[in-house]
Amino acid sequence: MTTALYPGSFDPVTNGHIDIIRRSAAIFDRLIVAVAVNVEKTALFSEQERLQMIVEATGEIANVEVDSFDGLLVKYARKHGVTAIVKGLRAISDFEFELQMASMNRKLAPDIETLFMMTANEYSFLSSSIVREIAAYGACVRGLVPPGVEEHLRNRLGLFK
Ligand code: COA
Repeated sequence: MTTALYPGSFDPVTNGHIDIIRRSAAIFDRLIVAVAVNVEKTALFSEQERLQMIVEATGEIANVEVDSFDGLLVKYARKHGVTAIVKGLRAISDFEFELQMASMNRKLAPDIETLFMMTANEYSFLSSSIVREIAAYGACVRGLVPPGVEEHLRNRLGLFK
């Protein structure tokens, strides 16, 4: 059985992430979507909220599990029998940092591969922070995030219709 891990801060999960989740889940037997709780970013949503939004959005994909982790990614990956870490690449600007992380993860755990998947063109401009920003200014985020996330943003920010 092949187990892949898709890690990220998911604050909140966007349709760009969901696209990567769907396509990865179609390749691997099992996909763990793991919310990083201790990254150096100030989160809008709590760990539980971020988990809940991913669970809501991926509920119909049978081989997807949602979890959170703290600490080293490769340590979590080893503990859960992960053979591949999946990352999405949106633009050339993602490449340098992703290369650095993949290389370091490979140094730490040579038995775990990092695989890159190109983000769908229609979501290549998306990021969680840009979604948070436009939502905070009252712009509609329909089509950019799953409907449940739209609702969470609306409730949290109370700004757009
Ligand atoms: N669609 C839309 N947005 C996407 C996307 C996609 N397909 N893929 C990435 N993004 C965006 C995210 O929304 C996020 O946007 P933001 O900066 O506005 O929040 C941005 O790209 C970065 O993604 P993020 O989820 O924060 O991931 P990351 O590439 O920075 O890596 C971890 C995060 C958790 C995987 C990484 O920090 C980690 O492994 N931490 C654990 C500690 C560790 O092991 N460190 C050593 C690593 S070598």
